[in-house]
Amino acid sequence: MLHVHAVFKTYPTAQGPLAVLRGANLHMQQGESLALMGESGSGKSTLLHLVAGLERVDSGSIEIAGERLDQMNEGQLANWRRTQIGLVFQQFNLIGSLKVEDNLAFQARLAGRFDPEWQAQLVLRLGLAELLKRYPEQLSGGQQQRVAIGRALASRPALLLADEPTGNLDEATSDDVLQLLLELLNDSPTSLLMVTHSPRVAGRLSRQAVLQRGQLAAGEAR
Ligand SMILES: Nc1ncnc2c1ncn2[C@@H]1O[C@H](COP(=O)(O)OP(=O)(O)OP(=O)(O)O)[C@@H](O)[C@H]1O
Ligand SMILES: [Mg+2]
Repeated sequence: MLHVHAVFKTYPTAQGPLAVLRGANLHMQQGESLALMGESGSGKSTLLHLVAGLERVDSGSIEIAGERLDQMNEGQLANWRRTQIGLVFQQFNLIGSLKVEDNLAFQARLAGRFDPEWQAQLVLRLGLAELLKRYPEQLSGGQQQRVAIGRALASRPALLLADEPTGNLDEATSDDVLQLLLELLNDSPTSLLMVTHSPRVAGRLSRQAVLQRGQLAAGEAR
């Protein structure tokens, strides 16, 4: 469902052009979960941003669910992101002025894909029932992360992109959150592409890939 083909991405810097991705290839099937690993600065977040349509490739193609991202205009990309992509970052990015229940529904409503039954199921499975009337600042890190995951899954995206989603959590909480995420994905057609520095976390996903020298190689969780 995801095909990244011969993607190049270079950033201009004060020291000259920095070639981050140099012919990167990546293929994922529907329902698959892939851990993206690699040294700091190797281009993992860059690749995620490209796949999310937040940035554009210099050359190469990205196809998701039969659609070519590199050929869309900005309006099409924005609509695409709303309906097909779920995003979870390390810093949760919850909306401080909205209660948990409205944070959860916000993007699904925007996308016209709010489904009260699915929302209720997410609330139950993520253990958020008691927290719905609270604001993000009244939650612990692990609780905020569960809200962020619920929000990303609420619109039933084709692809969930997660950039070190458990990086700010202690090991036990991180394990709980990951376990929940994987269970939810089991019951939906959503595929997962997750950046992680933790071989332990990577080992829980169905496949691992390592980004080095601008290209992807099959990786092993160690
Ligand atoms: N907008 C930008 N302009 C210039 N350089 C950038 C920009 N964004 C990223 N870079 C550079 O591109 C390289 C790859 O960055 P990226 O954030 O993708 O790395 P990463 O693998 O996610 O690293 P980390 O594990 O530390 O999060 C880094 O050297 C970074 O400094
Ligand atoms: Mg990064």
